[in-house]
Amino acid sequence: MTTNVMSARGPGAARELAGRLLVDLGDRWRHTRAVAARARELSVTVPPGDRDLLVAAAWLHDTGYAATVAATGFHPLDGARHLGRLGWPDRLCALVAHHSGARLLADVVGLVEELDAYPREEGPVADALTYADQTVDSRGNRVTIGQRLVDVLARHGPDSPHARVHHLREPFLLAVAERVEDRLS
Ligand SMILES: [Fe+2]
Repeated sequence: MTTNVMSARGPGAARELAGRLLVDLGDRWRHTRAVAARARELSVTVPPGDRDLLVAAAWLHDTGYAATVAATGFHPLDGARHLGRLGWPDRLCALVAHHSGARLLADVVGLVEELDAYPREEGPVADALTYADQTVDSRGNRVTIGQRLVDVLARHGPDSPHARVHHLREPFLLAVAERVEDRLS
């Protein structure tokens, strides 16, 4: 029984759901597939019991961009809420809500209270999810975190929430990278 529940919320089911929601979004789907592949590689940095959770969260981290899911327009929150309604585990929903320093952006877009409904996990799984997302660009190519930050600023523009929190987000992401690279070595 437990095994069935686990596999129903495992990487395979996550891939299937992400595909249904994102396959028509082109680059977003390419990005998602590459982030999931990256997360699989990084699963050596997390406890064995958390590896499926990491890969499932990677498949689902950007589902908030799907037209049928977007509500507030803040994709980490929209994705987490949708996954919660579908019965995905609380921990996975919280990882999606907070991936890649989402709380820094939530502060700027006025959604920090809503995001704080989800506990912000710190540790190898949250780090690996963020590192996977930040070492794949918006088109699914492998990049460094530095290149990813440049890409994000170029896409969102100088007046964007991303630009406004860049001075906080950059050191946060570089610290994540250092921890993950330490675990890899
Ligand atoms: Fe992403």
